[in-house]
Amino acid sequence: MGMSLEVIVLAAGKGTRMKSALPKVLHRVAGRPMLGHVIDRATELNAQRIHVVIGHGAEKVRETFPDTALNWVMQTEQLGTGHAVAQALPDLDSAATVLVLYGDVPLTRTDTLDHLVDLVDDGHMALLTVHMDDPGGYGRIVRNTHGDIIRIVEQKDASAEHLEIHEVNTGILAVQAARLQEWLPRLSNQNAQGEYYLTDIIAMAAETGTRVRSAHPDHVYEVQGANDRQQLAELERWYQKRATAQLMREGAALIDPARVDIRGTVEVGEDVEIDVNVILEGRVILGAGARIGAQCTIRDSVIGAGSQVLENCVIDNARLGEQCSVGPFARLRPGTELEAGARIGNFVETKNARLGPASKVNHLTYVGDAQIGARSNIGAGTITCNYDGANKHQTQIGDDAFIGSNSSLVAPVKIGDGATVGAGSVIAKDVTAGALAVARGRQKELANWKRPGKK
Ligand code: UD1
Ligand code: CA
Repeated sequence: MGMSLEVIVLAAGKGTRMKSALPKVLHRVAGRPMLGHVIDRATELNAQRIHVVIGHGAEKVRETFPDTALNWVMQTEQLGTGHAVAQALPDLDSAATVLVLYGDVPLTRTDTLDHLVDLVDDGHMALLTVHMDDPGGYGRIVRNTHGDIIRIVEQKDASAEHLEIHEVNTGILAVQAARLQEWLPRLSNQNAQGEYYLTDIIAMAAETGTRVRSAHPDHVYEVQGANDRQQLAELERWYQKRATAQLMREGAALIDPARVDIRGTVEVGEDVEIDVNVILEGRVILGAGARIGAQCTIRDSVIGAGSQVLENCVIDNARLGEQCSVGPFARLRPGTELEAGARIGNFVETKNARLGPASKVNHLTYVGDAQIGARSNIGAGTITCNYDGANKHQTQIGDDAFIGSNSSLVAPVKIGDGATVGAGSVIAKDVTAGALAVARGRQKELANWKRPGKK
């Protein structure tokens, strides 16, 4: 092909039927705004430039994509799809091929678009069309007796005969920029909706000797937009169906793919097992043989090979090495790292904490801003007191240490290798390697103690 590609994304519409303060294209599919999905596709196509036409909620839309190299084009009044594309005309390189996408049609596959763009050359433009059992509302594709596309008729302008046509316009098309520069200024709004229709360029193409090639997506959901929340939920289901199918192809066992949700990118090794009601967000890596129990949310984390996360855990920005065990009912907050064979049990919260190989924190514990060596055992109810009301401090625990139950470790504090802390201690000073530290009231007895009785 060789010709450079520029993408124009139409995203100025309001989306009244969403009944929302959020601009339509910012509503999310798989945790990402619909417009984000469209921009991702344009990026995968190696578009030279991506022009996004915005209007309703323009500022909010722009703010949502601060880091992306996008050319924002304002369309202050929504006078039609042709008018929208025309707003980007001055910014187009005349030698480029232009692909028009909609910001509220998020599930088109890159292959489908790539194929469409490939159909464009000096003599041809390209249109993505589909056949629909119920074509109501869509522009109809009108072909002549040779089967050539000669125009598109919008639903509201269609004759009874045109309404019988089941091949419809998806809105997605590709054409040389030079042709758009020639045709768009000639659009008129003399039609049922009083709009400048982009679709009128098809008749102009046919009249001026540019032939219109058509391509079709493999699946109808690829060209479906979301005008209301029900349609948005349908797109979400399609997305999830596709994403979970991909995971299974890569070797993951999903007990019920309809009850696993993927909101990001997930890499899996062989024989990963995922139980029901699991949400995977951001960038998640599940090593070979990892098992994720029911009702877990895992965000931006790595679960090492052979590790298990039992049910009802929330794991956020954490790294588990191999053969670790977490949960049930554990919360691993950002900066948690478990080395091989480490274990975290129920009702444990961790944050900025490293557990060395084979160390255990089995019950009812908070470990924050802490470094724990190998093979140490942190007893039930242990709290690292990491916050003095103003600053955070570190707790360091060596190898083979034993922290008795219900101890408070007042940071900054160090517990040496092989040290033991007696249960119920409040440890505010460092503990020497190999020593026993007990910091609690001594047990006293008052013999023959009489409990007070009622008067
Ligand atoms: C359009 C097509 C129709 C096609 C259908 C597919 C035209 C005239 N019609 O109709 O043939 O079957 O899409 O869904 O193109 N937009 C703007 N600025 C505007 C108008 C629209 O940015 O001034 C954006 C909208 O936000 C939306 C997209 O363009 O994302 C499509 O606009 P919409 O009004 O929904 O077009 P349809 O009437 O559905
Ligand atoms: Ca529409």
